[in-house]
Amino acid sequence: MERTYLMVKPDGVERGLIGEIVGRFERKGLKLIAAKLMQVTPELAERHYAEHKGKVFYDRLITFITSGPVFAMVWEGDEAVAAARQLIGKTSGIEAAPGTIRGDYAIHTNYNLIHGSDSHDNALREIGIFFAEDELLDYEKVIQVWI
Ligand code: TYD
Ligand code: MG
Repeated sequence: MERTYLMVKPDGVERGLIGEIVGRFERKGLKLIAAKLMQVTPELAERHYAEHKGKVFYDRLITFITSGPVFAMVWEGDEAVAAARQLIGKTSGIEAAPGTIRGDYAIHTNYNLIHGSDSHDNALREIGIFFAEDELLDYEKVIQVWI
């Protein structure tokens, strides 16, 4: 079992796409173990996007992710990091394949609706930034043969 950190960005919240996006991960068979609507502070944004500091798009990225509420989530499942990245699609909404979240709903690289951890280690790091340990629920699904 692996965990991944996913976050509907301010554009997805504003466009009313939380339900559509969450539904895709539910139908895939991943298990939701934490979720909350929250305002990202500049301090949290800088920790989350530390790897991008110094890049040309960094300031715009921090401004955007702090511009309105995000829907932060932790999902669990076999190879959850890779599975979620497949559903999300490429960074650019134009390059992302139809059928992926970004391919279906985004046309911009900055306003691309959702963040997904890109590795197991980054997932652990990002979950630790946005959630306390006691916010991560440990529960069994009655029927979970497909995950
Ligand atoms: P990155 O981690 O490379 O993409 P992903 O979200 O697919 O893991 O970049 C983080 C975010 O930075 C990305 O979602 C949107 C923004 N970004 C730009 O605005 N311009 C760019 O050229 C890149 C690479 C990213
Ligand atoms: Mg990334």
